[in-house]
Amino acid sequence: MGTLALAAKITHVPSMYLSELEGPHKGSRQAAIDGHIEIGKRCRELGVDTIVVFDVHWLVNSEYHINCAAQFSGTYTSNELPHFIHNMPYAYPGNPALGEAIAASANAAGVKSRAHSKTTLGLEYGTLVPMRYMNADQHFKVVCISAWCDWHDLQESGRFGRAVRQAIEQHYDGTVAIFASGSLSHHFADNGRAPEFMFKVYDPFLEQVDHRVIELWKAGDWKTFCAMLPMYSEKCWGEGDMHDTAMLLGALGWDRYDQPVEIITPYFGSSGTGQINAIFPVTPLPAAA
Ligand SMILES: [Fe+2]
Repeated sequence: MGTLALAAKITHVPSMYLSELEGPHKGSRQAAIDGHIEIGKRCRELGVDTIVVFDVHWLVNSEYHINCAAQFSGTYTSNELPHFIHNMPYAYPGNPALGEAIAASANAAGVKSRAHSKTTLGLEYGTLVPMRYMNADQHFKVVCISAWCDWHDLQESGRFGRAVRQAIEQHYDGTVAIFASGSLSHHFADNGRAPEFMFKVYDPFLEQVDHRVIELWKAGDWKTFCAMLPMYSEKCWGEGDMHDTAMLLGALGWDRYDQPVEIITPYFGSSGTGQINAIFPVTPLPAAA
């Protein structure tokens, strides 16, 4: 049946969009943009037809939700940072069949989930920013999954991620990439101090923990990382409580995954937060614990 061809943890900082525009930040996020272009290129080479994004900018308070409309289009302005991303046009095809298959697979695994194919839900910028650099030609279909899961358990998000993998492999005839779209540590610059932290992490503690985490990722030590994920997310203000990362790891085998990541864009600070683009090599899914 279907194939999970590529998995990645990606940045989506809105300053990437600013980096395109004339002004003081022009070019400042080129490394992150180039990383997205590279990941998009890899997806094309692998024959990916659909990108599934675990988007930490889509907040949900109950259950797991999949936005699998047939078509997405509009003009986006961020309600949280309207001075960073505004009036950004977008248009991408969707994939209702894959979204429905993911919901069915998750429900069968006991993770209450809902696919929304006939919906007015729009996309958030955790999806729109990477798609801007990877999918401007609408080459890939897009499915967006809520990953700011405010009252959810990280282990359950891991099981949801596993169900995504099983939906792709058992109930979909195609080739898919999955992205965890979110940061590492995520303490935003305090109000009034944004310029000071434009290219910095908020605190040395957060930066040091992020660097240690990246060492674990480069060593493929997922046993240690999965054990520390809840505390890491809590103490380092993980974006969306890091449910994007839990879903990604669930799709790869959670703490039985053993691959070292490939860093595509090295760690960088942005408005106080810690960011990275990294590919997680896909290996056969280990049996459930
Ligand atoms: Fe974000």
